[in-house]
Amino acid sequence: MRSAMAEAETGDDVLDRDPTMRALEERVAGLLGAADALWTPTGTMANIIALMSHLGRGEAFLAPQGAHVLDFELGTAAWLAGGMPRPLPHDGGPGKVTATAVRRAATSDGSYAALRTVLLCLENSHNAAGGTVTAPEEHASVAAAARAARLAVHLDGARLWNAAVALGVPPGALTVGADTVSVCLSKGLGAPVGSVVAGSAEFVEQARRLRKMLGGGVRQGGVMAAAGLVALDNVDLLEADHTRATTLATGLRERGWRVREPQTNIVLVDVADVAGTVAAFAEAGVKASAIGGKLRLMTHSGITDAHIEAALGRIGEVGPSSTAVAGASSHTQPESRLQTGADRERSA
Ligand SMILES: Cc1ncc(COP(=O)(O)O)c(C=O)c1O
Repeated sequence: MRSAMAEAETGDDVLDRDPTMRALEERVAGLLGAADALWTPTGTMANIIALMSHLGRGEAFLAPQGAHVLDFELGTAAWLAGGMPRPLPHDGGPGKVTATAVRRAATSDGSYAALRTVLLCLENSHNAAGGTVTAPEEHASVAAAARAARLAVHLDGARLWNAAVALGVPPGALTVGADTVSVCLSKGLGAPVGSVVAGSAEFVEQARRLRKMLGGGVRQGGVMAAAGLVALDNVDLLEADHTRATTLATGLRERGWRVREPQTNIVLVDVADVAGTVAAFAEAGVKASAIGGKLRLMTHSGITDAHIEAALGRIGEVGPSSTAVAGASSHTQPESRLQTGADRERSA
């Protein structure tokens, strides 16, 4: 990845575009089944660009509880995009909403004082729910319900690659009915920086202006796009990350921890004292974080089978003494990784 970055052909993406950036954007648009796409430095910027294009002041948007756009983007959906957030319970399973709930939430009583709900924001996989995946037919039915209720649909697919690999479907099968989609090339795919937001040609034209407004236009971006292109070549490797997450979950359960069965690369553990357990893990040399009142562990390309074994050994020294009560809350950190001392090209 680093040699590809060093050798990247570059232009000036703020002036008349960068060829490697364009190659990346076109490749991602193709993978997502979108007309066009735009590189952004982060997933957060990709999301806010989409939300700014969909929302106006006094308008509301729906999103499954715990969605990144609701809880982990500093409320920018409200104060930058002007949208009133309306979280939906996970009535379709962890991280998932049903078409019925969307239909119900989108219906206004007609009062002149009612907010206009104009957008449904989905997340696949759903990070805070533990990397849970929404299957193509579930996604399509929820998106269709939103469209029938005249809502636009944005899909936060920061971890869409994980969902696609877990479900054994092409990423484009998970974007049906979405007006805009954001994906990350960092995290599991290992690029040091870079996300992409995709949609219609008109949306991408507007998105480019919004990106400039947010200070996200970069000049010789090809250096970073080259990393993104290599990241896309790594998508199949995510399956091994998922297998390692399952091994980790099984090992934890065998050691007495209360663990959710992972669907992708995120392992959530129910503990009574999340902050205390994060600290105890760190002391033992295993880096974890707190999310939604749970302990979160992640696998990624920097983590090998040997690291999982080592981590389980170290966790064994901590012991599951604090697992009795689930759901204790703690401050939430954006991301965590197993701390193994390995050289990491990819961040989780
Ligand atoms: C679902 C989801 N969306 C968006 C983001 C934001 O991505 P970034 O950290 O690149 O801003 C994350 C990051 O963890 C995420 O999990």
